[in-house]
Amino acid sequence: MGFGAQLLALALLSLAAADPNDELCLTRLSESLEDPFHKLQNWTRAVFANPCQGFTSFLQGATCNNGRIYKLALAGLSLRGTISPYLSNCTNLQALDLSSNSITGPIPTDLQYLVNLAVLNLSSNTLSGEIPQQLALCAYLNVIDLHDNQLSGPIPQQLGLLVRLSVFDVSNNRLSGLIPASLGNRSGNLPRFNASSYEGNDDLYGYPLPPMKNKGLSILAIVGIGLGSGFISLVLSFTAVCIWLRVSEQKLASEESKNSQFMPDY
Ligand SMILES: *[C@@H]1O[C@H](CO)[C@@H](O)[C@H](O)[C@H]1NC(C)=O
Ligand SMILES: *[C@@H]1O[C@H](CO)[C@@H](O)[C@H](O)[C@H]1NC(C)=O
Ligand SMILES: *[C@@H]1O[C@H](CO)[C@@H](O)[C@H](O)[C@H]1NC(C)=O
Ligand SMILES: *[C@@H]1O[C@H](CO)[C@@H](O)[C@H](O)[C@H]1NC(C)=O
Ligand SMILES: *[C@@H]1O[C@H](CO)[C@@H](O)[C@H](O)[C@H]1NC(C)=O
Repeated sequence: MGFGAQLLALALLSLAAADPNDELCLTRLSESLEDPFHKLQNWTRAVFANPCQGFTSFLQGATCNNGRIYKLALAGLSLRGTISPYLSNCTNLQALDLSSNSITGPIPTDLQYLVNLAVLNLSSNTLSGEIPQQLALCAYLNVIDLHDNQLSGPIPQQLGLLVRLSVFDVSNNRLSGLIPASLGNRSGNLPRFNASSYEGNDDLYGYPLPPMKNKGLSILAIVGIGLGSGFISLVLSFTAVCIWLRVSEQKLASEESKNSQFMPDY
Protein backbone atom coordinates (compact mmCIF):
# COMPACT_ATOMS: atom_id res chain seq x y z
CA MET A 1 0.00 0.00 0.00
CA GLY A 2 2.81 2.39 0.95
CA PHE A 3 4.67 1.40 -2.17
CA GLY A 4 1.58 2.13 -4.29
CA ALA A 5 1.24 5.58 -2.76
CA GLN A 6 4.89 6.25 -3.44
CA LEU A 7 4.48 5.24 -7.07
CA LEU A 8 1.43 7.48 -7.38
CA ALA A 9 3.34 10.37 -5.81
CA LEU A 10 6.20 9.78 -8.23
CA ALA A 11 3.82 9.68 -11.19
CA LEU A 12 2.16 12.92 -10.04
CA LEU A 13 5.54 14.53 -9.52
CA SER A 14 6.71 13.66 -13.02
CA LEU A 15 3.38 14.82 -14.44
CA ALA A 16 3.72 18.08 -12.60
CA ALA A 17 7.31 18.41 -13.82
CA ALA A 18 6.34 17.99 -17.46
CA ASP A 19 6.15 21.40 -19.07
CA PRO A 20 3.96 21.92 -22.16
CA ASN A 21 6.18 24.74 -23.44
CA ASP A 22 9.33 22.63 -23.28
CA GLU A 23 7.46 19.78 -24.93
CA LEU A 24 6.33 21.96 -27.82
CA CYS A 25 9.82 23.46 -28.13
CA LEU A 26 11.55 20.07 -28.30
CA THR A 27 8.96 18.52 -30.60
CA ARG A 28 9.18 21.38 -33.12
CA LEU A 29 12.99 21.56 -32.88
CA SER A 30 13.33 17.83 -33.55
CA GLU A 31 11.07 18.30 -36.60
CA SER A 32 13.06 21.20 -38.03
CA LEU A 33 16.50 19.72 -37.39
CA GLU A 34 17.72 16.72 -39.33
CA ASP A 35 19.84 14.08 -37.69
CA PRO A 36 21.20 12.08 -40.63
CA PHE A 37 23.70 10.11 -38.56
CA HIS A 38 21.29 9.30 -35.71
CA LYS A 39 23.41 10.98 -33.11
CA LEU A 40 20.54 12.29 -30.99
CA GLN A 41 19.71 9.75 -28.33
CA ASN A 42 16.38 9.79 -26.54
CA TRP A 43 15.04 12.52 -28.83
CA THR A 44 11.63 10.85 -28.97
CA ARG A 45 8.13 12.11 -28.36
CA ALA A 46 7.88 10.09 -25.17
CA VAL A 47 10.92 11.88 -23.73
CA PHE A 48 9.81 15.32 -25.05
CA ALA A 49 6.68 14.91 -22.93
CA ASN A 50 8.85 14.64 -19.87
CA PRO A 51 12.49 15.54 -20.53
CA CYS A 52 13.29 16.63 -16.99
CA GLN A 53 12.67 15.43 -13.49
CA GLY A 54 13.87 18.10 -11.17
CA PHE A 55 17.55 18.42 -12.08
CA THR A 56 17.73 15.14 -14.01
CA SER A 57 17.60 15.17 -17.80
CA PHE A 58 16.63 12.20 -19.95
CA LEU A 59 17.41 13.95 -23.18
CA GLN A 60 20.85 14.03 -24.74
CA GLY A 61 22.23 17.58 -24.75
CA ALA A 62 19.66 18.96 -22.33
CA THR A 63 20.41 20.19 -18.84
CA CYS A 64 17.49 20.63 -16.47
CA ASN A 65 16.86 22.98 -13.61
CA ASN A 66 13.75 22.59 -11.49
CA GLY A 67 11.97 20.51 -14.10
CA ARG A 68 12.66 22.93 -16.95
CA ILE A 69 15.28 22.81 -19.68
CA TYR A 70 17.79 25.54 -19.08
CA LYS A 71 20.62 24.43 -21.32
CA LEU A 72 20.67 22.80 -24.76
CA ALA A 73 24.08 21.76 -26.05
CA LEU A 74 24.07 19.93 -29.37
CA ALA A 75 27.47 20.88 -30.78
CA GLY A 76 29.26 18.82 -33.41
CA LEU A 77 26.56 16.23 -34.14
CA SER A 78 26.45 16.75 -37.94
CA LEU A 79 22.91 18.09 -37.60
CA ARG A 80 21.24 19.65 -40.63
CA GLY A 81 17.92 21.33 -41.23
CA THR A 82 16.84 24.60 -39.64
CA ILE A 83 16.26 26.14 -36.21
CA SER A 84 12.56 26.11 -35.38
CA PRO A 85 11.11 29.43 -34.15
CA TYR A 86 9.29 27.32 -31.55
CA LEU A 87 12.63 26.95 -29.79
CA SER A 88 11.44 30.13 -28.10
CA ASN A 89 8.90 28.02 -26.18
CA CYS A 90 11.78 26.70 -24.06
CA THR A 91 11.30 29.87 -22.06
CA ASN A 92 13.76 28.97 -19.29
CA LEU A 93 16.62 28.45 -21.69
CA GLN A 94 19.83 30.16 -20.57
CA ALA A 95 22.33 28.57 -22.93
CA LEU A 96 21.88 27.42 -26.51
CA ASP A 97 24.80 25.75 -28.28
CA LEU A 98 24.14 24.38 -31.76
CA SER A 99 27.69 25.06 -32.96
CA SER A 100 29.73 22.99 -35.40
CA ASN A 101 26.88 21.40 -37.31
CA SER A 102 25.53 21.97 -40.83
CA ILE A 103 22.39 23.86 -39.88
CA THR A 104 20.97 26.14 -42.59
CA GLY A 105 18.33 28.87 -42.78
CA PRO A 106 17.93 32.01 -40.70
CA ILE A 107 18.44 32.75 -37.01
CA PRO A 108 14.76 32.93 -35.90
CA THR A 109 13.74 36.39 -34.70
CA ASP A 110 11.54 34.58 -32.17
CA LEU A 111 14.67 33.85 -30.15
CA GLN A 112 13.91 37.31 -28.73
CA TYR A 113 11.35 35.63 -26.43
CA LEU A 114 14.12 33.68 -24.69
CA VAL A 115 14.40 36.41 -22.08
CA ASN A 116 16.77 34.38 -19.89
CA LEU A 117 19.20 33.58 -22.67
CA ALA A 118 22.80 34.32 -21.67
CA VAL A 119 24.82 32.19 -24.11
CA LEU A 120 24.07 31.86 -27.82
CA ASN A 121 26.58 29.81 -29.78
CA LEU A 122 25.55 29.08 -33.35
CA SER A 123 29.09 29.20 -34.77
CA SER A 124 30.35 26.97 -37.59
CA ASN A 125 27.10 26.23 -39.37
CA THR A 126 25.64 27.41 -42.69
CA LEU A 127 23.17 29.92 -41.30
CA SER A 128 22.11 32.67 -43.69
CA GLY A 129 20.03 35.84 -43.64
CA GLU A 130 20.54 38.78 -41.31
CA ILE A 131 21.41 38.84 -37.62
CA PRO A 132 18.02 39.69 -36.01
CA GLN A 133 18.17 43.04 -34.26
CA GLN A 134 15.56 41.61 -31.85
CA LEU A 135 18.33 39.64 -30.15
CA ALA A 136 18.94 42.91 -28.32
CA LEU A 137 15.78 42.12 -26.33
CA CYS A 138 17.52 39.18 -24.67
CA ALA A 139 18.93 41.48 -22.03
CA TYR A 140 21.02 38.84 -20.27
CA LEU A 141 23.00 37.82 -23.34
CA ASN A 142 26.69 37.80 -22.57
CA VAL A 143 27.93 35.50 -25.33
CA ILE A 144 26.98 35.82 -29.00
CA ASP A 145 29.13 33.56 -31.12
CA LEU A 146 28.05 33.42 -34.76
CA HIS A 147 31.43 32.99 -36.46
CA ASP A 148 31.80 30.84 -39.57
CA ASN A 149 28.34 31.09 -41.10
CA GLN A 150 26.92 32.80 -44.19
CA LEU A 151 25.13 35.64 -42.43
CA SER A 152 24.69 38.79 -44.50
CA GLY A 153 23.52 42.36 -44.07
CA PRO A 154 24.64 44.81 -41.40
CA ILE A 155 25.47 44.17 -37.74
CA PRO A 156 22.41 45.53 -35.87
CA GLN A 157 23.52 48.49 -33.80
CA GLN A 158 20.89 47.53 -31.19
CA LEU A 159 23.22 44.72 -30.08
CA GLY A 160 25.42 47.43 -28.62
CA LEU A 161 22.72 47.91 -25.98
CA LEU A 162 23.52 44.50 -24.49
CA VAL A 163 25.46 45.70 -21.46
CA ARG A 164 26.46 42.20 -20.34
CA LEU A 165 27.90 41.21 -23.69
CA SER A 166 31.44 40.02 -23.09
CA VAL A 167 31.99 37.74 -26.10
CA PHE A 168 30.88 38.79 -29.57
CA ASP A 169 32.20 36.96 -32.61
CA VAL A 170 30.75 37.40 -36.10
CA SER A 171 33.99 36.68 -38.00
CA ASN A 172 33.92 34.80 -41.30
CA ASN A 173 30.44 35.61 -42.53
CA ARG A 174 29.16 37.80 -45.38
CA LEU A 175 28.31 40.81 -43.29
CA SER A 176 28.53 44.30 -44.74
CA GLY A 177 28.44 47.94 -43.74
CA LEU A 178 29.90 49.94 -40.91
CA ILE A 179 30.61 48.27 -37.57
CA PRO A 180 28.27 50.02 -35.07
CA ALA A 181 30.24 52.38 -32.81
CA SER A 182 28.49 50.78 -29.83
CA LEU A 183 30.22 47.47 -30.61
CA GLY A 184 33.58 48.77 -31.77
CA ASN A 185 34.07 51.64 -29.35
CA ARG A 186 37.09 51.97 -27.22
CA SER A 187 36.76 51.63 -23.50
CA GLY A 188 39.88 53.19 -22.17
CA ASN A 189 42.56 52.22 -24.65
CA LEU A 190 40.92 48.99 -25.77
CA PRO A 191 38.18 48.34 -28.29
CA ARG A 192 35.06 46.71 -26.85
CA PHE A 193 35.70 43.77 -29.18
CA ASN A 194 38.87 43.53 -31.21
CA ALA A 195 39.32 43.02 -34.95
CA SER A 196 39.29 39.22 -34.62
CA SER A 197 35.53 39.45 -33.87
CA TYR A 198 34.89 41.03 -37.27
CA GLU A 199 37.50 39.78 -39.74
CA GLY A 200 36.62 37.59 -42.71
CA ASN A 201 33.64 39.70 -43.83
CA ASP A 202 34.59 41.23 -47.17
CA ASP A 203 32.29 44.24 -47.02
CA LEU A 204 32.42 45.06 -43.33
CA TYR A 205 34.42 48.13 -42.36
CA GLY A 206 35.16 50.60 -39.60
CA TYR A 207 36.89 50.49 -36.23
CA PRO A 208 38.37 48.17 -34.92
CA LEU A 209 39.11 46.67 -38.35
CA PRO A 210 42.27 48.09 -39.92
CA PRO A 211 41.41 50.88 -42.37
CA MET A 212 39.88 48.98 -45.27
CA LYS A 213 40.16 50.32 -48.79
CA ASN A 214 43.61 48.77 -48.26
CA LYS A 215 43.11 47.06 -51.57
CA GLY A 216 41.91 50.29 -53.18
CA LEU A 217 44.72 52.31 -51.65
CA SER A 218 47.45 49.97 -52.78
CA ILE A 219 46.06 49.96 -56.30
CA LEU A 220 46.03 53.76 -56.20
CA ALA A 221 49.58 53.75 -54.89
CA ILE A 222 50.74 51.46 -57.69
CA VAL A 223 49.03 53.65 -60.28
CA GLY A 224 50.60 56.71 -58.64
CA ILE A 225 54.05 55.23 -58.65
CA GLY A 226 53.61 54.17 -62.27
CA LEU A 227 52.41 57.62 -63.35
CA GLY A 228 55.09 59.37 -61.29
CA SER A 229 57.98 57.34 -62.65
CA GLY A 230 56.57 57.70 -66.16
CA PHE A 231 56.47 61.45 -65.72
CA ILE A 232 60.00 61.56 -64.31
CA SER A 233 61.43 59.50 -67.17
CA LEU A 234 59.55 61.70 -69.62
CA VAL A 235 61.11 64.80 -68.05
CA LEU A 236 64.55 63.18 -68.01
CA SER A 237 64.45 62.11 -71.64
CA PHE A 238 63.08 65.51 -72.66
CA THR A 239 66.00 67.15 -70.86
CA ALA A 240 68.43 64.74 -72.51
CA VAL A 241 67.01 65.55 -75.92
CA CYS A 242 67.22 69.28 -75.18
CA ILE A 243 70.84 69.00 -74.08
CA TRP A 244 71.72 66.93 -77.12
CA LEU A 245 69.99 69.41 -79.41
CA ARG A 246 71.80 72.28 -77.77
CA VAL A 247 75.16 70.57 -77.95
CA SER A 248 74.74 69.70 -81.61
CA GLU A 249 73.45 73.22 -82.30
CA GLN A 250 76.57 74.68 -80.71
CA LYS A 251 78.73 72.23 -82.67
CA LEU A 252 76.95 73.22 -85.84
CA ALA A 253 77.34 76.87 -85.05
CA SER A 254 81.07 76.56 -84.31
CA GLU A 255 81.56 74.48 -87.49
CA GLU A 256 79.67 77.10 -89.43
CA SER A 257 81.87 79.81 -88.03
CA LYS A 258 84.94 77.67 -88.82
CA ASN A 259 83.67 77.12 -92.33
CA SER A 260 82.99 80.79 -92.76
CA GLN A 261 86.57 81.47 -91.84
CA PHE A 262 87.89 79.33 -94.61
CA MET A 263 85.23 80.19 -97.11
CA PRO A 264 86.28 82.72 -99.58
CA ASP A 265 84.15 85.81 -99.67
CA TYR A 266 82.25 86.47 -102.79
C1 LIG B 1 17.47 8.01 -22.09
O1 LIG B 1 16.41 7.94 -21.19
C2 LIG B 1 16.55 6.93 -20.20
C3 LIG B 1 15.31 6.92 -19.36
O2 LIG B 1 14.21 7.42 -20.05
C4 LIG B 1 17.73 7.23 -19.34
O3 LIG B 1 17.90 6.20 -18.41
C5 LIG B 1 18.94 7.33 -20.22
O4 LIG B 1 20.03 7.74 -19.43
C6 LIG B 1 18.71 8.34 -21.30
N1 LIG B 1 19.84 8.41 -22.19
C7 LIG B 1 20.52 9.53 -22.37
C8 LIG B 1 21.62 9.46 -23.38
O5 LIG B 1 20.25 10.56 -21.81
C1 LIG C 1 5.61 29.09 -28.99
O1 LIG C 1 6.45 29.71 -29.96
C2 LIG C 1 5.75 30.22 -31.07
C3 LIG C 1 6.80 30.73 -32.03
O2 LIG C 1 7.62 31.67 -31.40
C4 LIG C 1 4.79 31.30 -30.64
O3 LIG C 1 4.04 31.77 -31.74
C5 LIG C 1 3.85 30.74 -29.59
O4 LIG C 1 3.06 31.79 -29.06
C6 LIG C 1 4.61 30.08 -28.46
N1 LIG C 1 3.69 29.38 -27.59
C7 LIG C 1 3.62 29.65 -26.30
C8 LIG C 1 2.65 28.85 -25.54
O5 LIG C 1 4.34 30.48 -25.77
C1 LIG D 1 31.18 28.04 -29.51
O1 LIG D 1 31.35 26.71 -29.93
C2 LIG D 1 32.61 26.47 -30.56
C3 LIG D 1 32.64 25.06 -31.14
O2 LIG D 1 31.72 24.21 -30.57
C4 LIG D 1 33.70 26.69 -29.55
O3 LIG D 1 34.97 26.44 -30.12
C5 LIG D 1 33.63 28.12 -29.09
O4 LIG D 1 34.61 28.37 -28.10
C6 LIG D 1 32.26 28.43 -28.52
N1 LIG D 1 32.17 29.86 -28.25
C7 LIG D 1 32.20 30.36 -27.03
C8 LIG D 1 32.17 31.83 -26.94
O5 LIG D 1 32.27 29.66 -26.04
C1 LIG E 1 31.60 55.82 -28.32
O1 LIG E 1 32.57 56.83 -28.35
C2 LIG E 1 32.03 58.12 -28.48
C3 LIG E 1 33.19 59.12 -28.62
O2 LIG E 1 34.40 58.58 -28.14
C4 LIG E 1 31.15 58.44 -27.28
O3 LIG E 1 30.59 59.71 -27.43
C5 LIG E 1 30.04 57.41 -27.22
O4 LIG E 1 29.25 57.61 -26.07
C6 LIG E 1 30.62 56.01 -27.16
N1 LIG E 1 29.55 55.04 -27.23
C7 LIG E 1 29.49 53.98 -26.45
C8 LIG E 1 28.32 53.08 -26.65
O5 LIG E 1 30.35 53.73 -25.62
C1 LIG F 1 41.11 39.68 -29.37
O1 LIG F 1 40.24 39.32 -28.32
C2 LIG F 1 40.25 37.92 -28.06
C3 LIG F 1 39.19 37.63 -27.03
O2 LIG F 1 38.90 38.73 -26.22
C4 LIG F 1 41.65 37.52 -27.58
O3 LIG F 1 41.66 36.15 -27.32
C5 LIG F 1 42.64 37.85 -28.69
O4 LIG F 1 43.94 37.57 -28.23
C6 LIG F 1 42.55 39.30 -29.06
N1 LIG F 1 43.37 39.52 -30.24
C7 LIG F 1 44.15 40.59 -30.37
C8 LIG F 1 44.93 40.68 -31.65
O5 LIG F 1 44.24 41.46 -29.51
